[in-house]
Amino acid sequence: MRRLNTLFVGQTLLQLPEVDSTNSFAQALLSKSKPQEGIVISTFCQTAGRGQIGSTWESEPDKNISLSAILYPDFLEAKDQFQLNQCISLAVFDLVKNCLPDQPVSIKWPNDIYVGARKIAGILIQNSLINTQIRSTVAGIGINVNQTAFVTNPPNPTSLLLESGQEHALHDLVLQLCEHLEARYLQLKAGKIVPLQQDYLRHLYRFGQLADYQRSNGDTFKGTIIGIDEMGRLRMEVGSEIECFDLKEIRFI
Ligand code: BTN
Repeated sequence: MRRLNTLFVGQTLLQLPEVDSTNSFAQALLSKSKPQEGIVISTFCQTAGRGQIGSTWESEPDKNISLSAILYPDFLEAKDQFQLNQCISLAVFDLVKNCLPDQPVSIKWPNDIYVGARKIAGILIQNSLINTQIRSTVAGIGINVNQTAFVTNPPNPTSLLLESGQEHALHDLVLQLCEHLEARYLQLKAGKIVPLQQDYLRHLYRFGQLADYQRSNGDTFKGTIIGIDEMGRLRMEVGSEIECFDLKEIRFI
């Protein structure tokens, strides 16, 4: 069995036989204590996984990874939360790319991990703020590993098994994910913001490509992703204009 090679992420690993949501469990822990930084709550049987914007996250029992890491990025101002999003997204990207070196793995803004045009992993980051600083973070990550049929999870789910034809050992992947999380988090903590941003943009889905999108009012348009603004919004070239979008304002089609 693989050994965990980290300083703090995953050194305490609560591997739960079953839980509604690892994010909810982590938040309940935070509400009554201050667990050590890097504690990871993991399960292979999550019964009520939570997704972005109030959605749910489907995971067949004993097929996938669902985990939440508690971090205290008190070195980050609340206005820079997107840097943390970039760091967690890159950690999950690193793991998936490691498993699928020959596949087109990318990060779909803001934090979905894609293989081609299919979603293989989702991230739900919940920050608690104190004034202008981040007090604590629950970084929730779900990766589709050995699941081959999906009922609810849009859009276009895929898994490591579907993409590689091989089953993957779940516990090993959890340890590898802890290592990637720590490496990227330490990069962020060391202030290496520019390389993080560059890596994020280098792996961003549809970066620099003209493609179809839909506004929240239903109008469709062609645009090109040209970057991310300081608030983490998607910067797009639309005709001769530059427009910025937040999560609820744009849909990839
Ligand atoms: C999304 O893409 O909508 C985000 C999905 C996040 C799912 C993970 S699984 C582990 C953690 N616990 C949850 O309840 N959600 C996140």
